[in-house]
Order: sequence, then C-alpha cells, then structure tokens
Amino acid sequence: MSRRKPEKTRIARRKLLTGGVVLAGGAASAALTAARAVDDNLPPHLPAWMKEQGAPFLSPPYGQPSPFEKNVIRRPRAPTPTTTAAASMTPWQNLHGIITPNGLHFERHHAGVPAIDPDQHRLILHGLVKRPLIFTMDDIVRFPSESHIYFLECSGNSFWTGNTPQSTVQHTHGEMSCCEWTGVRLSTVLHEAGLDPQAKWMLAEGADAAGMARSVPITKALDDALIVYAQNGERLRPEQGYPLRLFLPGYEGNTNVKWLRRLKLGDQPFQTRDETSKYTDLMPDGAARQFTFVMEAKSVITFPSGGQFLREKGFYEISGLAWSGRGRITRVDVSTDAGTTWKEARLQQPILAKCLTRFRLSWNWDGTPAYLQSRTVDETGYVQPTRAQLVDVRGLHSDYHYNAIQTWQIAQDGTVSNVV
Ligand code: CO
Repeated sequence: MSRRKPEKTRIARRKLLTGGVVLAGGAASAALTAARAVDDNLPPHLPAWMKEQGAPFLSPPYGQPSPFEKNVIRRPRAPTPTTTAAASMTPWQNLHGIITPNGLHFERHHAGVPAIDPDQHRLILHGLVKRPLIFTMDDIVRFPSESHIYFLECSGNSFWTGNTPQSTVQHTHGEMSCCEWTGVRLSTVLHEAGLDPQAKWMLAEGADAAGMARSVPITKALDDALIVYAQNGERLRPEQGYPLRLFLPGYEGNTNVKWLRRLKLGDQPFQTRDETSKYTDLMPDGAARQFTFVMEAKSVITFPSGGQFLREKGFYEISGLAWSGRGRITRVDVSTDAGTTWKEARLQQPILAKCLTRFRLSWNWDGTPAYLQSRTVDETGYVQPTRAQLVDVRGLHSDYHYNAIQTWQIAQDGTVSNVV
C-alpha cells in the first residue's frame, strides 16, 4: 500500500538519529529519545495514531475537549478562594468566535451552588398581581419559548485597581461570557398572573443559601426579560442557575438571578442587601450610585493579549470582542500606538443586540514595542472611554462598571503584558 511507502525513509532517519546520539557521547538523554519519538510522527513518516484503531465512540458518552486542551479552563478571580462566595473567569485568550462553551462560562455566586431537584423546584409569583401563582418546571417549559444569543457580564468584571503586568485577558475581562439562552418571556408569565397597575418593581429571589435577591424595574420585566432553562442547547449548568434563572439582556450579571424561586411585584424597590451594601457605585464625592443596571459599551483585544507571545515580526491578525448592554455594536477601532492613530476593524456577522461582536484587523508587527488598544462605539453613539476619562468622572472607589479602553504592551522580545 502506498501509505507504507514512507517506512524506508523513517528507518533511514532513525539510523541518522542513532548516529547522532553516538557522536554526542554517552549522554544519550531521555530528552533526545522524546525528540526522536516526536520526529517519528512528522512527515514523511506516518504518525503513531495512524497505525492503530482510535478510541471507540461514546468514550465518554458526554464529549470532552482533547487532553491537549487541558489548559483551557476557568480560573478563580482570587488566587485561593476561601469561601463559597466566589467568582471564576472565562479564558478568552483561548477562545474563538463569540460563543462561550457551557463548561467555561464564568461563575459568580454568593453561597455556593445549590443542588436542586427540578421536580421539587417551584417558581412563586406574588405581590401586586391579580392571581398569585406557583409554577412547576413542567409548567414553565410548556409556555411558548424563545432563544437569543446574549452576553452576560458581572458588573465587577475588570478592576479599577489591583491589576498587574502579568494579568491576562482572563483576569481583566473573564467575568463575561456569551451563550444562546432559551426560555420564556417574563412578560408572558407575568400576564398569566395579571399585573396590578401599581406594580412598578419586581423582586427576584434565588434558591441558594444566600437567598440572593435584586429589584428589577417593571419596564425591564415587561421588555426583553426572560426566564431561561437552557444554555447553548442543553439545560442550564448547576452553576448557571439550574433549573431556572432570570435573564435580563444587557443588565449587570448580578440581577440575572440564578436558581430563580420567587418573583414579587411591588410599587417600589425592595432595597435588598445586594443592592444597598453591594452593587452600588461609590463616587468621588462619597455618594453612591444605585440601580446602575446597564452594562455600557466595552471592548478588549483577546489576541495578542497579556501572557501571550509573538515569536517573530511579521503578519498577525489582531482579534477581540466588543459588546454593549444598550444594543448593537456599530464600530471598533484599533490602535497599535497607544491611541495616537486608529484603524477601523472588520466586524464579524451577525452583529446582534446585547451580544458579543468579534472584530479583526490585519497587522504587520515591525518588531518594535507596540501598545494595542481597541475602542468601540454602540448604536446609541456611546464611545468607550479611556481610563483617564472614566476615572475623572467615577474616581477609584467603585468596584463596578469599569469599561475603559484596555492596553496591551508588546515588548521588543515579543512578550505581551497588561499596562496597569
Ligand atoms: Co451597577
């Protein structure tokens, strides 16, 4: 068979290598043996994996990434999380396109991940409604459904302070993910109960041990809000709110209450812990902004980004992500000289509202130090601010809503680092 033809060449090459080992003296190391094994898998040889049957199908029944991709994982926000109130981050430096695989979606929870039996889970709807109702999961899934691709971003994603030059894009922007979400329009469920005209706010409460709860304006509840039970085609992952979560497109992640068990309609906000002591934005004058729901337009370059390495000068495709909680992205500009000059990037279709948009720009690196930035504009005309512009207005005391332009420095040796 013609497939076997390279065999002769392989033997010849082996002899050559053996000769090399002899010439190198007695220190025939394991490293050399390993190098020879790799060499045997390269053209013109047949690689080892063409010489035996592969693994059988259904191994395992739920497919897993290649073991060679074992570095593509969520990582904790804190180096050693000590409590169950923790966060993990999506490795955007390793991902392509706009969809986050379910196992890599960022996590943020306040009392661990509850283990909920969907048959025993109930959604309670009460307060300023004509008919209080309790739904089973079967009831929820029976309603007319919709699927939408939306980003979800923790308002604590990206830090005002505390970055290091070693920070990767996973550290700086990893509390943000994007999936296809399937569920029921919240308005459909609310109309089933009948809204009292006095209902202006809605409390959403989770079934975790923290009873995490937020107030949502009724205008949002009746607009594009969903209660979702599926993510990228399969039921929600436990850490994403299985079996049911609230989804408020474009709103800060914390309001998208997971393990959703209760909706209560009222005539004013409920002032829960997570909208008074937390998720408020401390301004330079000491006042706190409250109910800052919408995630403003933001973008970041994912390649080249912190921790990556350009091995030589020449062609590279700069690529990244842009998103806005107010609608569609209309433009992304990229600078390679710290914002002195800008070029318009190509935007990958489809460009969807409140969804990630992938942008790309061809670039020839001349081997000198470079400072990469991206700046996006959304359909409202909002322009992503520089760090100086943002800090000028909001100061440095807030933990939330940092959406400034990110800078990656490329050193002459090709290393890429975060500009703090
Ligand atoms: Co906020």
